[in-house]
Amino acid sequence: MTALDSALARWLDTHDQRLHDDLFAFLRIPSVSARSDHTADVAAAAAWLHGHLERIGFTTETIPTAGHPVVLAEWRGAPKGAPTVLVYGHYDVQPPEPLELWTSSAFEPTLRDGNIYARGSVDDKGQLWLHVAALEAHLATRGALPVNVIVLAEGEEEVGSAHLAPFIEQHRERLACDAVVISDSTMFAPGIPSILSSLRGLAYFQIDVTGPNSDLHSGMYGGAVVNPATALARIIASFHDADGRVAIPGFYDTVRPFPDHVRAGMRELPFDETDFMRHLDVAALGGEPGYSTLEKLWTRPTCEVNGMLSGYTGEGAKTVLPGVSMAKVSCRLVPDQDPETIRQLLERHVRSVAPAGVRVTVTALHGGHPWRADLEGPLYDAAARALTAAFGRAPVITGEGGSIPVVNDFARLLNAPVLLVGFGLPGENAHAPDEWISQDNFRRGMRAIAALWDELAPSRA
Ligand code: BES
Ligand code: ZN
Repeated sequence: MTALDSALARWLDTHDQRLHDDLFAFLRIPSVSARSDHTADVAAAAAWLHGHLERIGFTTETIPTAGHPVVLAEWRGAPKGAPTVLVYGHYDVQPPEPLELWTSSAFEPTLRDGNIYARGSVDDKGQLWLHVAALEAHLATRGALPVNVIVLAEGEEEVGSAHLAPFIEQHRERLACDAVVISDSTMFAPGIPSILSSLRGLAYFQIDVTGPNSDLHSGMYGGAVVNPATALARIIASFHDADGRVAIPGFYDTVRPFPDHVRAGMRELPFDETDFMRHLDVAALGGEPGYSTLEKLWTRPTCEVNGMLSGYTGEGAKTVLPGVSMAKVSCRLVPDQDPETIRQLLERHVRSVAPAGVRVTVTALHGGHPWRADLEGPLYDAAARALTAAFGRAPVITGEGGSIPVVNDFARLLNAPVLLVGFGLPGENAHAPDEWISQDNFRRGMRAIAALWDELAPSRA
């Protein structure tokens, strides 16, 4: 078993407090990309990151886009023949609301029970920062890195990364690399390091149903006028059959089954369904028949309601027939489903089931392609050795139900293998109140990534 180089390990130990302090400073910046009143904070987070990358020895630029800026930093002093690695992460975060459900403030990072609590602690500032720390460990102890490194950090991941694919395309030559490394995901369980083999894609819609030109008295009009809330409920109910399969015609047509050995590997993971249900306070699970829970989450596409709005929802009773209704609906996609094709299928289906007497519009909000890796080759072998060095055991291969739309763009536009190695944990509350990263994982993550750069050096391959 390889171990982390002792000088790197010592440097990370000695600088542990400062690396925590820096992370806390980064987390204090409320870089909420979805909200225009936080635009200056998003820019401040970019500037903060820019400053650090420059200070540790990277040539750094903050490049504006039509949205939030990209921070692009390069260090290209590795020995001849060394590979070039691109590290991607995002410095934007989700909105912190509902604020009253946070135990400590979302933007005042707090260490409690071995976890660092703050919005962005795990998704993704903490995981991006541990990469920067690992790079600094190399440059501070040896004055050099064993590989060339490009750091690309964006500020729009949480709002769909609309400007990143064009950015990658535009800077294709500059971003050319042998591997892309990303930490923006979770480990299977505490102590079990994990390499991701897949991410689902996304197609997100808003459905608006308009009925009469005003809310109406439900006694004077109800029974004769088509109710937009009921019409929407019917539309939504038609998305699944009685067994839980998606019933939109054509939805599964391009689904390419996961290879048997990947499914077999998933079945071997120590997943306890009873625990999973207990954790969520639910008495039963749903979804497609014929698949295990992990297979449903990682290998099957979905169509889920994210929100609904119609009629009177205030205190007490109001007899009203609503004039409009609205739902947010998103489909998680698996290879080889295409977000645009799914949009067409869903729209056609909605039109075919919408009752006469209401008008229905479907608006696509954002989307991204699914991704699957074959996990063959030196990048994944190096990652397995580095994770083993930091966690004391070999990684497992997992899938993921979430989406990082740009991963597919990286693989396609840069023609490089992508390594997704995350240090979050189940229950981390990403996007929710009390988001946290385990301090132990933060520390081991820095060590794993520091080891990874050595493992990728040509002399080790
Ligand atoms: N880090 C997550 C993606 C993720 C979640 C990876 C869980 C692995 C495990 C990312 O920041 C995210 O939240 N992505 C969004 C998609 C985006 C288009 C809003 C998602 O999955 O909902
Ligand atoms: Zn996220």
